[in-house]
Amino acid sequence: MKAKKGIVDPEYIHPFDEFNMEIPVDTFPVQGMAARAAKGIVDSEAWTDANPVLNLSSFVTTFAEPELREVAAANFLKNYIDHDMYPQLFAMEGRMVRWLHDLWNGPKNGEPYGTATVGSSEACMLGGLAHKWNWREKRKEAGKDASHPNMVTGGNVQIVWKKFMKYFDVEPRIVPLKPGNYRLAAERLEKYVDENTICVVAIAGQTFTGEDDDFQEIHDWLDAYEKKTGISVPMHIDGASGGFVNPFLYPDYKWDFRLPRVLSINASGHKYGLVPPGLGWVVFRERKIFNEDLVFYVNYLGGEMPTATLNFSRNAFQIAAQYYQFLRLGREGYTRVMRETVDHAIYLRKMLVDSGYFKIMNETQRIPVVALTLDKKIKNFNEFDVSNKVRERGWVLSAYTMPPDAQKIRSLRIVLRPHLNTNTIELLARDIIKACDYLKVHGGTATPPALHDMHKTATSKC
Ligand SMILES: Cc1ncc(COP(=O)(O)O)c(C=O)c1O
Repeated sequence: MKAKKGIVDPEYIHPFDEFNMEIPVDTFPVQGMAARAAKGIVDSEAWTDANPVLNLSSFVTTFAEPELREVAAANFLKNYIDHDMYPQLFAMEGRMVRWLHDLWNGPKNGEPYGTATVGSSEACMLGGLAHKWNWREKRKEAGKDASHPNMVTGGNVQIVWKKFMKYFDVEPRIVPLKPGNYRLAAERLEKYVDENTICVVAIAGQTFTGEDDDFQEIHDWLDAYEKKTGISVPMHIDGASGGFVNPFLYPDYKWDFRLPRVLSINASGHKYGLVPPGLGWVVFRERKIFNEDLVFYVNYLGGEMPTATLNFSRNAFQIAAQYYQFLRLGREGYTRVMRETVDHAIYLRKMLVDSGYFKIMNETQRIPVVALTLDKKIKNFNEFDVSNKVRERGWVLSAYTMPPDAQKIRSLRIVLRPHLNTNTIELLARDIIKACDYLKVHGGTATPPALHDMHKTATSKC
């Protein structure tokens, strides 16, 4: 049916008319419409999207209490980069960098340095750039070739590191996974690390199973490597998720600046930092790790201002929201919230394993992620079928194949977050088990999607 054309007089508009205005598909709208009509169309077009609170495929915060929403609303029309206009927001960021340096056990005698970013992706890129710059400077000073930088990571890294290596011309040295072992450990570093390695990236709370890489073992291996070769290789910790869980739940666990080779750490404020989407952090062990050559000074917005992020303009509300959350919860509050969320993950994984359908993939349960694979005896449906079936109830759960060399393993991942209470966890468990009961009788039809370049670029120096 043809929709109505042109402007409907806002005085006479009926709600049904609002949704029935003509909306061009490929050409820019010619005329405007009443505010209520525009809102009606925007709202209705999003009706069939997922309900964010049921989206357990994402790590990102989907709940905000009313006061946090008020803080966000009071700041969302501010451009954060305009430090001259909003010096107090800039001061909050500086204070939070120092708090995170303290939370991640940075050395007391070092000058903390870091920045808020749009997410962990930008933070990882800044960390990677700092290491590339430092490596190149050292090589040049020593009169050595500085044209072949490489970075060593595990096959479990998030896509941002593959982007970083491609965008910034750093050779990827990605240590393949093994079925049953999805963490980077020292075991095969010998084949990957050399004098051109700008850093080793290890993950706290990896995307696929939620596990941590073996930081201490990697660190010790790099110490031994330095003793043997004289080559000192730093570590960057990608704490996108673990950076806001480990310090609160496992205070004695050395994953952070207590390991002397750890020179930089990133985390997502919008994951377990509990801020709505649009915030990451990168913090350096000390000021000098972030090469001054990477800092630009501009005066277009008033006084002279340093800028060292990939983006210039960005929304300020996330910075105000993070400051609110740090004050609101403190160490005690984050510890309580993370404890409850991990306890829920343990409860959920027990219910699902007890159902007989699933095996657990993450033996250690540090962050609140439940990574499952269907029991081998199940032949007539797969993890993609389960994900599709529970979607009928509104839940969004990720199903995926693992990276090389574990690509034969399929996973169903559930990222628990603090807005889910025990009742909703039980409801979720029942819905997953009911989906499996149905699929057991009727069989499944899903085939894993063939993603372009899904896990390419596994290389070693040999
Ligand atoms: C381990 C890891 N690193 C980096 C990222 C990228 O983070 P962001 O989405 O905040 O850019 C993610 C996102 O899931 C992640 O899990």
